[in-house]
Amino acid sequence: MCGIFAIVNDLKGDAANTVLDGLKKLEYRGYDSWGIAIKPENTSRKREKLAVEKHIGKIGDAKTTLPSGKIAIGHTRWATHGGVTDDNAHPHLDCLGRLAVIHNGIVENYLNFKERLVKSGHRFSSETDTEVVAHIIEEKLKTIDLTTAVFDSFNELTGSNAIGVLDGESETIVACRNGSPLVVGVDENHHRFFLGSDVPAFLRYTNKVYFLEDNEGVVIDKQGVRLYDLKTKREKPLRLRRLDWNLEDAEKSGFPHFLIKEIHEQKQTIEKAAMTNQRIIGDVAKIIRENYKVVFIGCGSASYCALAGKYFFAKAGIETQTYGAYEYLPFSTFADDKTLVIAISQSGETADTLIALKQAKKNRAKICAVVNARGSTMERLADFIIPVGAGPEIAVVSTKAFTAQLISLYMLSMAVNNKVNQAMTDVKRFSNHLRKWLSVSLIDSIIEKSKSLMDMEHIYVIGKHLNFPGALEFALKLKESSYIHAEPFAAGELKHGVITLIQKDTPCFVLASIDEVKGEILSSAAELKARGGRIIGVAPFESDEFDCLIKTPDAGDLTFIYNIIVGQLLGYYLGVGRGADPDKPRNLAKSVTVK
Ligand code: AGP
Repeated sequence: MCGIFAIVNDLKGDAANTVLDGLKKLEYRGYDSWGIAIKPENTSRKREKLAVEKHIGKIGDAKTTLPSGKIAIGHTRWATHGGVTDDNAHPHLDCLGRLAVIHNGIVENYLNFKERLVKSGHRFSSETDTEVVAHIIEEKLKTIDLTTAVFDSFNELTGSNAIGVLDGESETIVACRNGSPLVVGVDENHHRFFLGSDVPAFLRYTNKVYFLEDNEGVVIDKQGVRLYDLKTKREKPLRLRRLDWNLEDAEKSGFPHFLIKEIHEQKQTIEKAAMTNQRIIGDVAKIIRENYKVVFIGCGSASYCALAGKYFFAKAGIETQTYGAYEYLPFSTFADDKTLVIAISQSGETADTLIALKQAKKNRAKICAVVNARGSTMERLADFIIPVGAGPEIAVVSTKAFTAQLISLYMLSMAVNNKVNQAMTDVKRFSNHLRKWLSVSLIDSIIEKSKSLMDMEHIYVIGKHLNFPGALEFALKLKESSYIHAEPFAAGELKHGVITLIQKDTPCFVLASIDEVKGEILSSAAELKARGGRIIGVAPFESDEFDCLIKTPDAGDLTFIYNIIVGQLLGYYLGVGRGADPDKPRNLAKSVTVK
């Protein structure tokens, strides 16, 4: 996944800095390298080359050296085709330096074009698939106008793609979407126009946006934004919407990192998610009561949310299936017109989840998308949408979106048996305790704990029933944020082999609740302790089996969410202590839009 950002009509002529600032807000989408292209101002419109700079690595405190200008495009890259080098960074130019192309996705058929273009004399400077697009458009521009040349070129590409093309001659940006997200922004006075992969890039200027649909394109110049159907090339009405996001949603607001900010935002976002979707949750619950088979799918944290959903629904007396979306295809054959697939995704753009969902749709299943980002591909494919409303989640490591999705599944499981009022009471009590518990003293105890774990090579996490998906997510937070090998186990697995890994002082987190398996989880803790493990309890109760305890409030079936939040905090402080970048962990991107 990569980040695309562009501005047209930067009134102060500071387009390069505007784009650089916007790219910083998109680095969670990829940060192997970055680049900007600008049409220098005070130059003749004809044949003036674009000015470009490209660098590997994160933007950090970099300053741009580009000249002033009113129109520019930029890109942050998560490398797919071609290594991490300056030459492979976007934007990519045509032979004349008139066009600059930025791209998110994979052009699956790029080699078909590259060979022919090289034979006809085009010069390439990168190993990327993207560069081919600049030269295809260059060829077409010899005989047709810019808009048609870009649209026709894009229509010839195969794969899931979004492109932005800056034409220095006409001072126009043409962009196309088919599979990868693109959104345009128009500022209040309709003077400045923005293009991005996601809204945070320009949220400080406007929240009036339009999310492009697949097979749509836009032409942006000083006169404004015009929307087209890519196939018919006919103009369409541009219907802007106002997002209920504001500037601080995409700013750190005094926190050192987005990750810790978003962990603390859970004091509000969990309860908000439970309250804002009651109508749509009622509609989905009604479907489920009509004896639909329920199948949960998701990837990564979203798959652990899906697994927790399985336990929630079991408690509601409903059997469900849960799959990591990447493994769903062999089982999609069982989907039919009485199946409800509940797809869980923060971004709504994860390729594996979209592939699984489209396969289920082919088998006439109904789709419910439990998503956080708005305007996503998943939203468009769904029959029902539960927007969890956690606001933009900038950190790559999911926290507030994940718990908002969790509580939405809890509400849904309770709504099926018409227990929404009880569920709301549970969530309000949960959130009231959370606001008191997520305090300085908790943070201090977690920082102390992290100091003793800083140099650990292996950490183990066990849980049972709802604390099993809890353990999976707890361990993933440690892995993602601190790069420590953290292995989650179902407590019942210990005697079946994994306990052989436990040695003296091996740190073992035991996640527990005051539930029907409290005794069993304490027996598992005793087994780990007997082999020398250092037992760190994460639970609402004391026990002699714990060498130390991170005490959480008791919230019945929701206690495991507090336990997960301990893992989020621990991952963050371990990561900071070990010099990782909490917001942009190595090798990761916020949404995996390629399979
Ligand atoms: C979560 O911390 C991870 N970054 C990752 O596992 C993520 O949950 C997964 O890639 C799914 O993303 P999605 O929710 O946007 O579909």
